[in-house]
Amino acid sequence: MELRDKNGLTEEEYLKTYKPGDWPRPSVTADIAVFRETERGMELLLIRRGGHPYLGRWALPGGFSEPGETVDETAARELREETNLIGIPLTPVGFFSTPGRDKRAWTMTEGFAAILPEDGPEPQAGDDARETGWFLVDSRWAEGVLTLSFNGPECFEAQLVRDGAYAYRILDTGGLAFDHAHIVARAMERMGLLQPEPVDYITLNAQLAALVEGVPHPLSNLSNAAALLWEALGGINWAGFYLMEGDKLVLGPFMGKAACIEIPLQKGVCGAAARTDITKLVPDVHAFPGHIACDSASRSEIVVPLRRNGRVFAVLDIDSPLLHRFTEADKAGLEAFARILEQAVAGL
Ligand code: SME
Repeated sequence: MELRDKNGLTEEEYLKTYKPGDWPRPSVTADIAVFRETERGMELLLIRRGGHPYLGRWALPGGFSEPGETVDETAARELREETNLIGIPLTPVGFFSTPGRDKRAWTMTEGFAAILPEDGPEPQAGDDARETGWFLVDSRWAEGVLTLSFNGPECFEAQLVRDGAYAYRILDTGGLAFDHAHIVARAMERMGLLQPEPVDYITLNAQLAALVEGVPHPLSNLSNAAALLWEALGGINWAGFYLMEGDKLVLGPFMGKAACIEIPLQKGVCGAAARTDITKLVPDVHAFPGHIACDSASRSEIVVPLRRNGRVFAVLDIDSPLLHRFTEADKAGLEAFARILEQAVAGL
């Protein structure tokens, strides 16, 4: 028997009476953030708009969905039409629906992102795009405000604040069209390219102190310390310890990918920190002579020595795929973290 709704209609009858205009409909678009890795950092591809609105402004490539098209197909087509890039795997980064985000009309957009290798295909402007440009993009946080800087054919900065768990609110577009600063922030976050918000080391170090209190097992304490850092620090790909054994460092408890087992004291950032008994903050590991790349994705690193009776007995090592990931505030916070641990691993 056919199912009938509360008005006594079958599905077929209901569909005949349904008026799509009863619900106002937004337009749908796709916008695409294409990044490429370079020695200087990450670059973002922007197009200069050839038509209204925002005529002459920089924007992400993108455009309206056509009937019969998925939004993924829209993204691929618009990228081809405006930049001539073809066959790039695109990752969805979110749906953007803030009322008023498009001054023309009610428009919702799906954001996409891709990361090209340095020797990837070169874009060519077409269709609505007057020209294309690569912009070095950097992000930084200060007092809850995220600044995105764009350095390319022109230089400008956008500012945003967090608005809920994933979204941002734009304080200043920096001149970038529409709400594209928001899409860029989300794309960078989704692709692991955004600098994380500063860590609250007062809380983190209180958590460490509570975790190790009264625990007489040094390796357990180091393992929990690595886990705590892994959870608390954004934008890292390795956190753990190397322990001094004779004239070399040997892999201890850690979180992240399998790593080098032995590091001679004259090698690497870890060796340098252990040998000199000084924290090594390395903004760009490619510029550090003798850096040991356990993971080729690592771009910056911090190594903090741990001491007993005035001698280094271990190092705390943290790696990041982001250039310039660690700040002076991280250095101070992690040195305090190390001081707590030194007490907790006395038996090691
Ligand atoms: N990069 C370190 C080696 C250890 S791994 O990063 C985990 C170094 O240069 O000492």
